[in-house]
Amino acid sequence: MTTRISKAVIPAAGLGTRFLPATKAMPKEMLPVVDKPAIQYVVEEAVAAGLHDVLMITGRNKNALENHFDRMFELEALLEQKGDRNKLAKVNESTDLADMHYVRQGDPRGLGHAVLRARMHVGDEPFAVLLGDDIIDERDVLLERMLEEQEKRGASIVALLEVDPSQISMYGAAEIETTDDPDVVRITGLVEKPAVADAPSNLAIIGRYVLRPEVFDILERTPPGKGNEIQLTDALQEMAVDVEGTGGVFGVIFRGRRYDTGDRLDYIKAIIQLAADRKDLGAELRPWLHDFVSTLDAELPAGGLLD
Ligand code: G1P
Repeated sequence: MTTRISKAVIPAAGLGTRFLPATKAMPKEMLPVVDKPAIQYVVEEAVAAGLHDVLMITGRNKNALENHFDRMFELEALLEQKGDRNKLAKVNESTDLADMHYVRQGDPRGLGHAVLRARMHVGDEPFAVLLGDDIIDERDVLLERMLEEQEKRGASIVALLEVDPSQISMYGAAEIETTDDPDVVRITGLVEKPAVADAPSNLAIIGRYVLRPEVFDILERTPPGKGNEIQLTDALQEMAVDVEGTGGVFGVIFRGRRYDTGDRLDYIKAIIQLAADRKDLGAELRPWLHDFVSTLDAELPAGGLLD
């Protein structure tokens, strides 16, 4: 008998040092992508896939996350009084989205350690993990497809993306065998952030996982790996090899639109791409972008570049 997966775990305890000073007193997950905090896209994705029970793994300095998914009475009352239904709807978008839960990570000892903090809440059932740095375009399907494969195969599932081989050392890399499904592969090995020359393929794990609960026992005894952190990839490597004990690991290859908000340059690209496709902004932004791009070939701007 299979139970439908209902729980999503979102690790959000990272310090966000790449975005300092913006993230000095504010969690990086609250940085707006157009006009919505990055984390809201991720929770919306989980809910759209039917995962209404969301556990966020947070840390110090993350109160804004809890506030964002809670009521904001003063603002609601004010907008109600003004009769501004539009803005009121925006305020309420994130309030009733999901059944939110929070646990703190304490020591920041890596992604594997963060996921292990979900054990009490998740219990003995499969669950999804969504990393906040990756936004999957709502017009493309990924998580639903992974849930479907989890149910069908009884395995753990990771999302894979073909990346330029020079980029693979920023990701967990997969060694694979093909299956009869063109978008599904069997994982025979995983390496966290390998050197380009040692990478088993250019298939990178992107931040979506559907895991069997056996992962918790394995994480309990996974020693620190790359960067001296407890790596989820290392636990999954063990599961990939121990098919009998854990059901093994499969990968769903994603060929849709994914936006990385994890570093500044990718974050800027994400905002431009998403804003250009928005009903309310695209029509004005697109021609402006065209004009702006044509000025970039000219010499350096007056006064030189900014620091
Ligand atoms: C984490 C994982 C890595 C994965 C990546 C996807 O790394 O450890 O295996 O490929 O997320 O975004 P991080 O980006 O947190 O360093």
